Amino acid sequence: MSDDKQAEKKRRRMLILAMLAVVALAAVGALAFVLHESARSEGTVTVKTTALSDLGKQGEALFRATCMECHGENGSGTMQGPPLVHIIYEPRHHSDKAFYLAVATGVRQHHWPYGDMPAQPQVSPDDVTKIIRFIRELQVANGIS
Ligand code: HEC
Repeated sequence: MSDDKQAEKKRRRMLILAMLAVVALAAVGALAFVLHESARSEGTVTVKTTALSDLGKQGEALFRATCMECHGENGSGTMQGPPLVHIIYEPRHHSDKAFYLAVATGVRQHHWPYGDMPAQPQVSPDDVTKIIRFIRELQVANGIS
């Protein structure tokens, strides 16, 4: 084989390798995009309802009045706020303290793409206790505890 032919062969091989690299990179990029988008669409969940305690019922009324607009009916989420009946908000990961703090001071966007949560100073800590009870009872009914 002449040197010219050898060189031509080598060039072709390099070109094929380069093309394969581009295809592989595109595939990784596409996969990352799909995973990211599916994480986003996990923003709402289906919540199984349950018989509530008296405190839980009071919490439900308070939740409906103030939190539902963003966190959805029964904490199932909307495009303005995340579902609270969600594994992220299980007691081990977000203790009751996180709820008192969120209502008193608001929340900086960090887990979701919905922006910041504004503080809800009109909701007293006693009312938050009831709302927590409501959310925790729903969490338990949905296998989150
Ligand atoms: C205007 C919309 C809005 C309202 C009203 C609202 N929230 Fe939120 N809330 C959000 C958003 C958005 C987040 C998510 C922030 C993030 O993690 O990216 C959030 C996060 C939270 C968190 C998680 C806090 C943390 O430490 O990550 C709790 C708990 C919470 N909200 C409780 C409540 C309760 C209880 C009410 C009603 C008293 C309420 N929210 C009302 C939008 C809202």
